[in-house]
Parts: sequence; structure tokens; C-alpha cells
Amino acid sequence: MKLFPQDFLWGGAVAANQVEGAYREAGKGLSTSDVQPQGIFGDVVERREGDFGIKDVAIDFYHQYPQDIALFAEMGFKCLRTSIAWTRIFPHGDEDQPNEAGLAFYDSLFDEMAKYGIQPVVTLSHYEMPWELVKKHGGWGNRKTIGFFEHYARTVFQRYQHKVKYWLTFNEINMSLHAPLTGVGLPAGSSKAEIYQAIHHQLVASAKAVKACHEIIPDAKIGNMLLGGLMYPLSCQPQDVWETLQQNRTWLFFGDVQCRGEYPGYMLRYFRENNIALDITPEDRQALKTTIDFISFSYYMTGCVTADEELNRKSRGNILDMVPNPHLPSSEWGWQIDPTGLRILLNMLWDRYQKPLFIVENGLGAKDKISADGAIHDDYRISYLNDHLVQVAEAIDDGVEVMGYTSWGPIDIVSASKAEMSKRYGFIYVDRDDHGEGTLTRRRKDSFYWYSEVIASNGESL
Ligand code: BG6
Repeated sequence: MKLFPQDFLWGGAVAANQVEGAYREAGKGLSTSDVQPQGIFGDVVERREGDFGIKDVAIDFYHQYPQDIALFAEMGFKCLRTSIAWTRIFPHGDEDQPNEAGLAFYDSLFDEMAKYGIQPVVTLSHYEMPWELVKKHGGWGNRKTIGFFEHYARTVFQRYQHKVKYWLTFNEINMSLHAPLTGVGLPAGSSKAEIYQAIHHQLVASAKAVKACHEIIPDAKIGNMLLGGLMYPLSCQPQDVWETLQQNRTWLFFGDVQCRGEYPGYMLRYFRENNIALDITPEDRQALKTTIDFISFSYYMTGCVTADEELNRKSRGNILDMVPNPHLPSSEWGWQIDPTGLRILLNMLWDRYQKPLFIVENGLGAKDKISADGAIHDDYRISYLNDHLVQVAEAIDDGVEVMGYTSWGPIDIVSASKAEMSKRYGFIYVDRDDHGEGTLTRRRKDSFYWYSEVIASNGESL
């Protein structure tokens, strides 16, 4: 398929807390991720010296990144999306002065990428924040966190202004509704009013970061990051279609504020009808008017929505409260596979916002087996990714402006939801299991060669 633009950003995406390890090294403070060793839906655990958490070492990217970047370069990556761990820069979150050792680490990492012409795409906050900010100040529930975050953002924009030209504010910002500790630093069980107030603070902080980025790095581009949770009506009954519209608005709302600079009417009605009275100051309203340059999103699956309460009850327990689609297959983890959904989503976001789109996560989590000859024949992963990229090409042909595509976990990493190593997304296998056993040796899978070819041919091999 010859449709990809010449400057298309091909690459992969990871997050600091799922790859780096070194969780107490060089002055790093504890983050919300560190106190949830079982993943983003797991319990909070008071960390003690010597206890086990798979993310504490993760895949040891903190020490082994030069060889990993070399492997990404071998695949021809144009970009690598990663995040900065806020706690490496401000261990407690509320300090005046940053931690130089933390800043120096990311200098080295970005310099290593630059050797191969790999552009960093940097998320300011990927599912973690300083644990001290949560304990001492109440996380994003406290308006003061806006200032702490802006200070952090300005610090890293200043420091990396010549090295990083693509930035994202908050990873899957809409997940704050489902995993509040990970998202906004509030305990599970917080009320909707508390969560939406914290989200409001985060949206203001995101807009302030966009403004700061434009001031400090005029030639940079900064986007938001949404979990693209596309929902279909389970039937064509108007009530199902209406419920689906409402369900899609629970996540589109974040994009609406970040792209349009104000709260949409449907949210004002929702707040009114649910007795949610947000504290929104005139200064907040002004800040929100700074909008993002592009929209980035993750895409893994779609789901269905029904107005039938009985069916809904049976499906509870799903991450996004969705009903399974009877027409789609599922991954080993029950995530429904829907390449066409990616084309639909790209068209939908383009129609709604007319801002460039960047797919910054997509991939298949699967169990891999090493064959007798030492190879890893992950044809299931190749076919998943191939099918999705064909739909990206279709969307480009539909007239959608797509900046790039970074597959999730180009090297095996710790999964976010349950902190597993066995849920592998990579083109590169890492020898480590769920109990932390293994040599951490890296090994190319069949998909490594397939993706290299896709990039080398700029998508023509699809
Ligand atoms: C996205 C997150 O929700 O999905 C990533 O941004 C995460 O951090 C990815 O890893 C896949 O989820 P999981 O649970 O399979 O790692």
C-alpha cells in the first residue's frame, strides 16, 4: 500500500514504569505505579526494602537502553515514544529544584536515540505520579498539583528543548474514570464529583503544559493522549444507539475540552443532573483555551453498548463496561480484535476535530513460545498488526491526516493492567517471567523482520 506520507513517524511506544526498573536508583522517588506492584487495578502496598515487585526491575531498560535503542534502529524506527518518570525529576513532586541525576538519565537516553536519528515522542505522565504528592497533597484532587505539574513540565521542556520535538501530556487521560489512583491520584471508591474535580485540575494542567511547551520550544508539537474506546450499538434500537453515543462521550469529552478549549454542553447537563458542582475559576477557563496541536490515542479493541440492563449486568467486570461483540474474535486476554474499528475511529476523530492524528499504541498481547531452533514464530502478532495497518492506510486514503504509528511494547515489557511479563507485545523477546526469573536476554521474533520491512518500504509491503 503506497499511501503513507514520506515523513510518516513509524516506531514503537513504551512507558517508564513498565520498562525502566531502577525504581529507587539515582534519587528517584516512589510513584503511584511503584505502590501498585500488581498493576493499575491492584491494591496499594506500602513498599519495604527487599520485597518483590516485577516493575522494580521491569526489563532493566534503565541500564540496558543502548542495546534496545540499537535494536529499534535496526528495525528502522523513526521515533520512539516513552515517558519521563516524574519521580526521577522531582522525587516528591513538590520540590523547587529538580534531581540532576534524573535529568541526566533522560539526556543520555535522548542522545542515544539521536545517534540513530530516532525522534523521541515523550509522555509527561504515563499512569504515574509522585506518591508523596498523593499522600501529602491529595494528588490531582488538590488544585496545588496543577502548579507542581507545570513546574515539572517547564523543567523538562527547558532541559530537553533541543532534543524533544514531540510531546504528549497525560497518557489515556480518560482512564482516570476507571483507575483513579493511576490517573488522578485518588483512592478507589472516590465519588464521581471528586474524580471529575481532579480531572478538571488535570485538564487545566494539560492546557498549561501546552502553553509552556509553545513558549519554550516554538518548533515542538504537543498533543493529548486518549484511550480510543470506540463503542458500537449492540442493536439498531434507538435506545441502544443513544446509549452508545453517551458512552462514547465519556471519553470524547476529554478530547472535546483539549481540542475546543471548553466544556461541551452534554457534560454540563451530566454534571447538573448528577449534582456535580465543579470548582472552575475564571483563570481555569482562560487556561483551557490553549488547545493541543494533535490528537494521539491508543487503540486495542472495540466493544458494544446496550440499553438492556440485564445484559449489562452480565457483562460487568469489563474494563470499560462494555458488552462483547458477537462478530469479533478475541485475544487470549479477551480483548476483541477489530482492525476496521481503527479505520472508523480515525475517520470519526478526523471528522470531529480536523487535527492531525497519531496512533501511539496498538498491538497484541500474547503468550510467545520459543521454538526448538530458538526462533519465535509470532505469525498471530504479524497478522494482527498487518490488518490494523492496512486499515490505517485506508483511513489515509479516506483523507484522514495521520502523523505516525507507534506499536505498543516493541520490546516485551511489564503489562499495565496486571503487571505480567507473560502478556507480550514485542518484536523483541525478553527472557523474564512473571516471577522475575530469567536472564533479561533480548531475542528477535519473526515480527521483528516483518516490521523492519514495513518501515523500509514505508508501508508498501503491507
Ligand atoms: C494502555 C496503556 O492502556 O494499554 C499501556 O497506555 C498498557 O500502559 C497498554 O500497557 C496495554 O495494556 P496491558 O495491560 O496489556 O499492558
